[in-house]
Formats: sequence, structure tokens, C-alpha cells
Amino acid sequence: MSIKLEAVRGMRDLLPGQTAQWGSVERIMRNVAAQYGYAELRTPIVEKTALFERSIGEQTDIVEKEMYSFSTHGGDSLTLRPECTASVVRAGIQHGLFRAGGQRLWYCGPMFRHERPQKGRYRQFQQFGVEAFGWPGPDVDAEILQLAARIWSRLGIVGLELQINTLGSESTRTQFRAALVDYLESRKDALDEDSKRRLQRNPLRVLDSKNPAMQSIIAKAPRILDYLDIAAAAHFSELRARLDTAGINYTVNPLLVRGLDYYTSTVFEWITDQLGAQNAVCAGGRYDQLASELGGGQVPAAGFAIGLDRVMELIPSQQRKALTQVTDAYLVWLGEAARIQAPRLTEILRDAGLAVISHCGAGGLKAQMKKADRSGARYALILGDEELEQELVTVKPLRQDGQQQHLTWSQAATLLQSHRLPVLK
Ligand code: HAM
Repeated sequence: MSIKLEAVRGMRDLLPGQTAQWGSVERIMRNVAAQYGYAELRTPIVEKTALFERSIGEQTDIVEKEMYSFSTHGGDSLTLRPECTASVVRAGIQHGLFRAGGQRLWYCGPMFRHERPQKGRYRQFQQFGVEAFGWPGPDVDAEILQLAARIWSRLGIVGLELQINTLGSESTRTQFRAALVDYLESRKDALDEDSKRRLQRNPLRVLDSKNPAMQSIIAKAPRILDYLDIAAAAHFSELRARLDTAGINYTVNPLLVRGLDYYTSTVFEWITDQLGAQNAVCAGGRYDQLASELGGGQVPAAGFAIGLDRVMELIPSQQRKALTQVTDAYLVWLGEAARIQAPRLTEILRDAGLAVISHCGAGGLKAQMKKADRSGARYALILGDEELEQELVTVKPLRQDGQQQHLTWSQAATLLQSHRLPVLK
């Protein structure tokens, strides 16, 4: 039987026009992270399965049904990472990074979850994330939210809503869980199958149900904010004050609980109404116990991950243009001498920082000009015998009105440089 050799369902190729935009977006995120003092950490795409089971939680959707796990020939159980926070903590412990004091880290790369593919949801998707280790207070929670807000503004993304909540301290969660279980048990007959299952295994997740039939029950459920102890309440109110000072709008969503078990106090999501059901573009919070649960001692931590596949959908088309790679010129040569000499000119222009495509293969003026136009280059440079003799080149604008001009090579470089479109950095 012949197998159709296409990309695996839920995983996609990014083609040249797309990769240019993705590359620019990733560069902007990296640059913003650097502005806040965050440094890159790269971890392997594969980790031991136990890492994710112990950090994300055995009774979460991710671990129960979404991981790509496999056994090696040596008998180890490995998993394609479904997220990167666990890997970053593992690496931090392994290399003693946390002993050196505070660490501000970022990562960017593919994650894998075996979910049902739909708009904005893929089985291989890309995250850009930041993780800050060593600071227990709300200052760093606010810092990462400011960092995310700056990314949105650099990308021209508007209309996102920031929702925040707190899961309080360990004792908050214990008391709240007990109250919630009592409440849900008293309405057990009205719960859907999914919520009954969650009630047994992970009761806070019932609050996350999207089933409309569950909403009236959820609306009357106990609120975690009523169970906060003094320290947790103070942490949350200072975070809110800091966001107010920074001019970051938010709403408090007491039902926000997140689908991963490692969160401790602050949790948040940036959501959009433009992507249908997959409305979260960035999510995170504090996870002060994760390092110690993985054997690395007490290391307070906070972070988030942005879903790039979703972010790309939200960038306004105007802004997209500025993210596209720009070719400054396409060099057209006429005659054998110009064909031989063309690389001399194109290398001079590239030395000047310009992007120049050199015509390869055969072709007369008309055919080459057609290629120049299709390449998207802003100018055609024409090099023929006449131009060569005088070390000149003909410069013809392709995207805007204007006369063609005969310029020296250095004049041509200056002209092209002065007409470069601003590219987002
Ligand atoms: P998460 O909420 O599982 O959190 O994922 C973060 C973001 O990744 C989501 O808001 C979404 O934009 C994107 N995402 C998740 N699954 C998919 C998918 N199947 N297709 C496309 N995009 C997706 C985490 O992963 C945590 N590690 C975040 C974090 C970092 N918490 C603390 N530090």
C-alpha cells in the first residue's frame, strides 16, 4: 500500500513568504526580552516522560491524552515536549543556574500536543516564553506582563484582554478545594460527564468548563478570592497596583485556573475574540514549588508562553508588510562581459548592507525584467556593455514612479540605502 507523503495532520510547513514574517516576529520578541535583561536558554525537544508527568501533573489533559511519548530501543520513555517550562526548570537545576541567584530566561521553539486540530490549534506549534527565577514578589509578575504588553505594541496587536487571577497559597488552595468539592458534590446530578471526572481528579478544572450547561453551576461556585490569606491577598493587590501604574488594563477572572498543575499564586491569560474557540494567545503565572518538586530546592518563579501560531493571525496586514523581507534590487545583466562582471557590483552592494538578487541562468532583457518584477525587489539594476565601460549602472524603480537613472556604483548603493523601507526591529 502506498502512503501519501504529506505533512502529519496538525503539523504544517511554513513557506518562504511566511517564514520571513515569522522570523521578524521572533526577532522582535527576542529583542524585547533582551530589553528586560532576559537571556536565551535552548533545551532539547525531547525529555524524559517523567519530567512532564511530575511537573504538568498526571491528571491534566496534556499528560493524560496529549503527549507524544515513545519508548527508545534502550527502553526509556521519552516525550516530545508539550511545553517548555518543565524543561527550563530541569535545565536550571541540572546546571546549577539557580544557585547563581536570579535568572531571567527566554526560549522559543516547537511544542507538541496531540489535540484535535482546528483554527489556531496545531499538534506542532511554536511558543515564545519567558521564565524568571529567584524573585518571590509581585514585582517580577508585573515585569513579565509589561514585557508581554511591549511585544503586543511592537507587533501592532491591539484589542487583547488581560485576565488575571490568583490561586493563593498552599493553604488557600487546600481550603478552597475542599469548599469547591463540597459544593460540586451537592450538585453532582447536574454535572456533565467531563466535570464529574474532573471533580474526582482535579476539581479546580471544573471551573474551566466551556459547556454552556455548566455555567450557572460554575457561577454560583465558591470563589478562590474569598479564601486568600493575608500574604496572598497582599501579593495580588500589589500586582494590581503595579499594573495600574504601568497603564496595563486587566480584568480579574476568578474562574481562571489554568490547565497545568504547577501554578501557585498569580495566573493570567491574554485573550482575543478574533480566533474563535482558541482565544488564549499568551498564558502563564507563578510556579513557586516546581523547582522543589523536581528536586532543585526552593526557587520562586514566574513566566509565560506566547503561542506564535495564534499571534501571527492577529498582526494587522499593514504591519505584516513591514515584517516581510525586502529585496532592495534585482540585477539584470546584458551580454557576456556584464554577466562575468555582475558579481563585482552585487558584492559591493551587499557590502553596503543591501539585499540584492543576481539573475542566474539565461534570458534576454525582457525575460530578466519580468523576473526582477516578480522577485518583489524595489529596483532593477541593469548592467550592459555601455554601463560597464563607464563603471555605471542603470537603476530603475519597480514599485514606485520615477525615472530610471544612470549612476555610479557607489551612487547606486547610496540611493538604494536611502530608499530602504523601515523594517521592524
Ligand atoms: P499553555 O497555556 O499550555 O501554557 O500554552 C501557552 C500558549 O501556547 C497558549 O496560550 C496558546 O497561545 C499556545 N498554545 C497552546 N497549545 C496550542 C496548540 N495546540 N496550538 C497552538 N497554540 C497553542 C504553557 O505552555 C505554559 N508553559 C506557560 C508558562 C510559562 N507558564 C509559566 N511559564
